[in-house]
Amino acid sequence: MPLYEGLSGIGLINEKNTTVVFDFGTAYTKAGFAGENGPRVILRSEVKCRETGNTVPVFETQDKEELRHRLVDFIHKLYFKHLLVNPKDRRVVVVENLLTPSNTRNILAKVLFRHYEVLSVVFAPSHLVALMTLGINTGMVMDIGYQEVTLIPVFEGVPILSAWQALSLGGKAVHSSLSELLLDRGLSVGEDGKEQRLSSVMETLPEKVLEDIKVRTCFVSTLERSSKLHSNKYDRSIEPPPPPPSVLYPLSGSRNLTIPGTVRELATEVLFEQDRDALSLPTIILDSLQKCPIDTRRMLAENLVIIGGTASMLGLRHRLLAEIRTLAASEAFSKVVKINSFKIHNPPAKANYVAWLGGAILGGTEAVALRTLPRDQFLVNDRVPDWCDLSCNLKEERDEKSA
Ligand SMILES: Nc1ncnc2c1ncn2[C@@H]1O[C@H](COP(=O)(O)OP(=O)(O)OP(=O)(O)O)[C@@H](O)[C@H]1O
Ligand SMILES: [Mg+2]
Repeated sequence: MPLYEGLSGIGLINEKNTTVVFDFGTAYTKAGFAGENGPRVILRSEVKCRETGNTVPVFETQDKEELRHRLVDFIHKLYFKHLLVNPKDRRVVVVENLLTPSNTRNILAKVLFRHYEVLSVVFAPSHLVALMTLGINTGMVMDIGYQEVTLIPVFEGVPILSAWQALSLGGKAVHSSLSELLLDRGLSVGEDGKEQRLSSVMETLPEKVLEDIKVRTCFVSTLERSSKLHSNKYDRSIEPPPPPPSVLYPLSGSRNLTIPGTVRELATEVLFEQDRDALSLPTIILDSLQKCPIDTRRMLAENLVIIGGTASMLGLRHRLLAEIRTLAASEAFSKVVKINSFKIHNPPAKANYVAWLGGAILGGTEAVALRTLPRDQFLVNDRVPDWCDLSCNLKEERDEKSA
């Protein structure tokens, strides 16, 4: 093999026109190259604030100028520290939520085109490209990320926008439930072996510690166990199921934290508890199904695709399926949905980067050239043509184009 081919493989001298694929998330950003089977890097969406020097989340700001600064710094880190390629004159695929605010999309495009002078950008809807990893074009795609869960049914490659659903549930909700439970029931063990309530030692646990505890020790319990736990809350005569073993977790210094078994399973219950509007993960799937045209429902129900980091929680998909089947047979839904053949797909990648992988597949096909937004076209209007913006979808313009 010639030497230059070998070097191109490790990314130092990357082929000039390899498309770069980004999936910017509120918690984690995935970045890599089209045609590869996984992102080169998955890193926290955080940058150092230019004024204070503190580490801040990239997308947690309402100020447009501040967001632009943060994106410039963050994308610099992605290109020059992790991907090691020159952004100039290189194509980009941005995997994004279909419901991303137009402002955020425009600022991102401005940074990529004006600051980094990329050749072109394709904005690929994450729910749509996730289906590409499975080679199907119909499915009900649910993305359970950090900040929120979004559900969009896609039929024959077309998102059914009238049936989209969103809920503010995800990794963040699990963290706050875990924090509450630990402060209430967790025991801190000192060097001398003495146990104290965690809340008497510290007021809050850092987000990173909560995430580590969640990923290492928490799981989603089965529907039967969960219903017994809930019945026991209201009627003490019902025996609760035996709790899972407690875990000793090292905190700072020589201090340890005893995480009771009940906390390990109760922390994730927040994803399945219905809120004041009686909404939870399983109910939004059934609600969305009701809003879809009747002849698409069976196919959608048989093609559920669950993506996003929180979908990696142990037992989540099993519990979700059990809950949907029980709810669909219940009085509230059985008359309207009338389907009980729900099935969940198993995508060929870890749940947190399925959408990125879809973007990498799209970036490697010819289709990318047709849907791309070139730099010169962006520089004319200084904004990304938007499907929900009527001024970009004028009938006369469309007719002119098709003529
Ligand atoms: N193996 C795992 N078990 C449990 N949780 C996990 C696992 N892997 C990742 N997560 C959680 O998934 C969340 C991040 O998921 P993801 O990367 O899809 O979010 P995001 O794309 O940044 O967020 P959003 O889509 O809301 O913008 C984090 O809360 C993280 O703790
Ligand atoms: Mg995401």
